[in-house]
Amino acid sequence: MHVAMIGTGYVGLVSGACFSEFGVSVVCVDKDSKKIEMLENGIMPIFEPGLDDLVNTNVKAGRLTFTTDLGEAVKAADAVFIAVGTPTRRGDGHADLSYVYAAAKEIAENISGYTVIVTKSTVPVGTGDEVERIIREARPDAEFDVVSNPEFLREGSAIADFTHPDRVVIGTQSPRAQDVMRELYRPLSLIEAPILFVSRTSSELIKYAANTFLATKITFINEIADLCEKVGADVHHVAKGIGLDGRIGKKFLHAGPGYGGSCFPKDTLALVHTAQDVGSPLRIIEAVVDINDKRKKAMAGRIINACGGSVAGKTVAVLGVTFKPNTDDMRDAPSLDILPALINAGARVQAFDPEGMKEAKEMIDGVVWCDDTYATMVNADVLVIITEWNAFRSLDWARVKSLLSSPILVDLRNIYEAHEMAEAGFDYHCIGRPK
Ligand code: UGA
Repeated sequence: MHVAMIGTGYVGLVSGACFSEFGVSVVCVDKDSKKIEMLENGIMPIFEPGLDDLVNTNVKAGRLTFTTDLGEAVKAADAVFIAVGTPTRRGDGHADLSYVYAAAKEIAENISGYTVIVTKSTVPVGTGDEVERIIREARPDAEFDVVSNPEFLREGSAIADFTHPDRVVIGTQSPRAQDVMRELYRPLSLIEAPILFVSRTSSELIKYAANTFLATKITFINEIADLCEKVGADVHHVAKGIGLDGRIGKKFLHAGPGYGGSCFPKDTLALVHTAQDVGSPLRIIEAVVDINDKRKKAMAGRIINACGGSVAGKTVAVLGVTFKPNTDDMRDAPSLDILPALINAGARVQAFDPEGMKEAKEMIDGVVWCDDTYATMVNADVLVIITEWNAFRSLDWARVKSLLSSPILVDLRNIYEAHEMAEAGFDYHCIGRPK
């Protein structure tokens, strides 16, 4: 079995490496020759735990190669995955499908023999139909099927998510394409991962429905956390108490500064627009998008309040700027709202992130970037945790206190316990938990 993976972003690179680990021969294609060169030299363009080992092992075994030559890769492939970006289109909030359609055109020119074209990128309902139309128009003679196979992996745990998925969703009604997809995912049948065969349209919608549902779950607990603060309840206890009900489930009930990342903000917005366009508005998701945007913007206010109502002339130490730990991804990270707001309010911001600073430096002006966790705290008036990296989970409090000029801690991820922080002598502020 030969696979061509078009696009070496998170989804493409991880999926390609994992398929090669399954024993399939995979060639990853990208237009960016620098990226391909880096990968050929064993350098990963993204930070993802375990990815370099997985890539390098499979490259050595001869199962995984990289190229800029889409045509050659497609000619040899039984299955071609489209895993290019689908960013939010400027101006109207829809997903920008130009990269997907451009890939479809190039694929069409190079199909040789029966080929399954798989959309792995998150694409709106109807994209598979358009990809099929584009290929059919360019190559009326070609033998192919277009299949939807959305990816549910999370950044930071991408390899485990791909190799041990809750389910694999495959959208096609073609028995021939189903056979190819079943063969590709055969190793997962050994761990009894459910493989769901549905229509292409249902498959495309499953991906958006899953992400918007998870974004809703987070937004729900964030609002409950705000209510907890007003009535004196503890959001951890509430989340546990409701999450143990199997119908609700305990995951994704962690209150915080609002969801970010490359998927939830983009996908919630795209589904809202799709639904409005077809006259079936998703009012819950519209509210989720609005609440989450406002929440991220409101977080700076919490920090300012913790400092007694003003940060003008004060130094704020920030730990963690990526949208979540174990990634260097800054896309739609809450820090992108919080740090500029603090700077606008007159604060000097000193920040550190284990992996995200390279990207962050290009996205946020006016921040003093520090070399390590403790250097960030020197003479700061308040310490703020925005991203819950493991490295920030067991700080040396005596050292922290000696470095800060006032012992105020704002923990936007609830990684510490209020009573322990009070014992350590800190004025501790968190989300939805009593002091
Ligand atoms: C998300 C989904 O979880 C994946 O299943 C999906 O495949 C992926 O999008 C995608 O569509 O490609 P990801 O964006 O990598 O994955 O990260 P998550 O772990 O889902 O976190 C997203 C955001 O929600 C982060 O900002 C995180 O801090 C926040 N979050 C998550 C919370 O605030 N509370 C929670 O309980 C969980």
